[in-house]
Amino acid sequence: MSRATTTTTVQTVEGSYQVNNSKLINWVAEIVALCKPDRVCWCDGSEEEFDRLSAEMVESGTFIRLNDKKRPRSFLARSAQSDVARVEERTFICSACKEDAGPNNNWMDPIEAKNTLRGLFDGAMRGRTLYVIPFSMGPLGSKIASIGVEITDSPYVVVNMKLMTRMGKAVLDVLGEDGDFVPCLHSVGHPLTNGKKDVSWPCNEDVKYICHFPATREIWSYGSGYGGNALLGKKCFALRIASHMAREGGWLAEHMLILGIESPAGEKSYIAAAFPSACGKTNLAMLIPPAGLDGWKVSTIGDDIAWIKPGADGRLYAINPEAGYFGVAPGTSPSTNPNAIATLAGNCIFTNVALTPDGDVWWEGLTQAPPPELIDWQGKQWTPDCGRKAAHPNARFTVAAVQCPSLDPEWDNPAGVPISAFVFGGRRASTIPLAFESHDWESGVYMAATMGSETTAAAAGKTGEVRRDPMAMLPFCGYHMGDYFAHWLKMGQGAKHCPLIFCVNWFRVDEQGHFLWPGYGENMRVLKWIFERVHGQAGASESALGWSPRFEDIDWSGVDPAVTPKQFEVLMRVDTQSWCRELQLHDELFAKLSSRLPKEMILKRQRLQSSFGG
Ligand code: GTP
Ligand code: SPV
Ligand code: MN
Repeated sequence: MSRATTTTTVQTVEGSYQVNNSKLINWVAEIVALCKPDRVCWCDGSEEEFDRLSAEMVESGTFIRLNDKKRPRSFLARSAQSDVARVEERTFICSACKEDAGPNNNWMDPIEAKNTLRGLFDGAMRGRTLYVIPFSMGPLGSKIASIGVEITDSPYVVVNMKLMTRMGKAVLDVLGEDGDFVPCLHSVGHPLTNGKKDVSWPCNEDVKYICHFPATREIWSYGSGYGGNALLGKKCFALRIASHMAREGGWLAEHMLILGIESPAGEKSYIAAAFPSACGKTNLAMLIPPAGLDGWKVSTIGDDIAWIKPGADGRLYAINPEAGYFGVAPGTSPSTNPNAIATLAGNCIFTNVALTPDGDVWWEGLTQAPPPELIDWQGKQWTPDCGRKAAHPNARFTVAAVQCPSLDPEWDNPAGVPISAFVFGGRRASTIPLAFESHDWESGVYMAATMGSETTAAAAGKTGEVRRDPMAMLPFCGYHMGDYFAHWLKMGQGAKHCPLIFCVNWFRVDEQGHFLWPGYGENMRVLKWIFERVHGQAGASESALGWSPRFEDIDWSGVDPAVTPKQFEVLMRVDTQSWCRELQLHDELFAKLSSRLPKEMILKRQRLQSSFGG
């Protein structure tokens, strides 16, 4: 018996198209009835749509068009001062059982959360247009990919989603009549009622909720228009909801960059690396090897998120679910990340950077000397001696991946790329050495699980405080962290060819607080050592932590200024006193997770203690 097909004609910015997925049609109708927008607009993902919405935002004051000669088809947005980063305290996992969300998440009862949110969303889009954004996380039609549909009242979200994901009508063709999708509902929470005038960055200054419903795989986000709070394909879907899907399906959804390394002999390996927010993923993913390491090449698959599934050959294969970069602007320069600078030549959105008198952008670190005058990220006159930052520390660029010169030819391959090594790293001023390789999968999982890092401007709150950030997933794991560790251990037991696990730290400082390691392109020296370990070619010495490179195991060709064996010794130092303190911090984490902590973690902890003479 064939089912009757529901087909509905929907309006786009400049025309219409047909939709035949009844779950989608019904869901949109339900949300329209709830949110009461003035208009409904389905996105087709075309360039014309992008241009039209951008032009409308220039009109409304959300966008400033940049100088077309210097930065073609590019825009600057200035957010509200209260809406500049992810808000972790307002982010909730709404599982039926509180314990399942774990102490690593804020929890709300799903029924209570829905009631509260329904109240907030009721009439929330009055005076606004409701946009329907079909998007695919991962290559269209890939078995590893997954479809979402975001409903939003923010045109800023629409144009960002256009650059960040595979978005538009083509996704609905893949979805078909009865394909499933993750419903992602978003409102800036600023209805235009009673003649209220719109502002250039609408949001809700007082009320924000970023809620995830793992059982029904839904996302409801209210009150913020910024980044990970509003571009729901990114952290909400591709990490918090996907981490559930991954646990159930035997795969991994991780806060990781993916890069390719090719040796001068033409051998190629892929590496996935997890660093917390604003700790160097985009930079490492786009690295250009320094002089002296000629013939080595690094290519970019992704800069923030990896979905990793076991292949038929027993290896782990990774795709980048995204199709663009939402990268940290400050610190990005022709010397630190020339590939990013080239990627940003045009077709970009900049958020919370400074504006130059000739209509281009600037941020701290872009040039050595700042321009004599600017308009800062808040729209105020700025001079170098005014005592304020010109760009917000979490100012970001949005740009499509296809503009990146180092983009790997396999980046859109639906099958993904085989991963040979996982790298974990935090921002640590002391204690953690520059690099080491874990003895085995279990030891590596332990090191990743206990990793600490200083907080950064990527999330609202205090910066520079060391906190435990397991696998760089503390704000993004959608369930109990103890269960997540168990899942990681199981992935290793199940895989025939486990990637090797490495730990790195680019951020160790001297007594004056200066970075000891030159970082950026020079990180290639560590990547090369990792590549050679993978290929059984590089030496190391054994320590309590694992296998560490000796001075002679690193290729120093062309390094300028030279790194001396003495400096290297400081970078690599594993100090017993600091490590005993570090182990106490592991204990604090484990105490919080104790109800679901795998016993392997406790055993590893004991072994480490005894190797430090405890
Ligand atoms: P998210 O997009 O928030 O997930 O950040 P990310 O991990 O991609 O970090 P990104 O590469 O954007 O770097 C964040 C900041 O760290 C920037 O200001 C960089 O300039 C700086 N940074 C990146 N790599 C290095 C490094 O090797 N050494 C030092 N000292 N700083 C670095
Ligand atoms: C991060 O904070 O890790 C980011 C930026 O990549 S956001 O999209 O806001 O999550
Ligand atoms: Mn990130």
